[in-house]
Amino acid sequence: MKRLIIINGPNLNLLGSRETKIYGSLSFTEFLTELREKYDEVKIDYFQSNIEGELIDKLHKVGFDYDGIILNAAAYTHTSVGIGDAIRAINTPVVEVHISNTFSREDFRHKSYVSPSSKGIVIGFGLQSYELAIQSFL
Ligand code: DQA
Repeated sequence: MKRLIIINGPNLNLLGSRETKIYGSLSFTEFLTELREKYDEVKIDYFQSNIEGELIDKLHKVGFDYDGIILNAAAYTHTSVGIGDAIRAINTPVVEVHISNTFSREDFRHKSYVSPSSKGIVIGFGLQSYELAIQSFL
C-alpha cells in the first residue's frame, strides 16, 4: 500500500473557522475523514504544525521512505528558505498545494520557496487541491 502524508503549516489548524470566505467552512479533520474513505487504497498520514522547525523535522523524518508528501506550508511558503532546503535534502517527492489561488492575492503570496524543489503544484481549487495532489501519486 502506498504511503502518503499531508503536511500542513501555520494557521491551517483553524480551517473551518479561519477566514471562511477564502478557506471554506469545513474543518480539516472532517475533510481528512472523507479523503481517507474515498482513497482507502492508500495510507494517508497527517501532520500539522505552526512551527517552522517542526515542519522541517517532519520532512526529514518522512522524506526517505514515504511515497509522496503533500505540503501546504501556508505562510512559510513565502518566507522559508529552510523548508525549501529541506525539500531538496530529502528523496520523497513533494507536491505543493494551496487552497486559495495565491496568485490572485497579495504580491507577497506570489513568491514560493517551496515551488522550485517540488514535483508539482496544485493551487486554488479549495480543499480539492489536496485531492488532486493525492491523485497525482496514484
Ligand atoms: C495558503 C496560502 C498562503 O498564502 C497562506 O498564508 C495560508 C494558506 C493556502 O492554502 O491558500 O495560510 O497556503
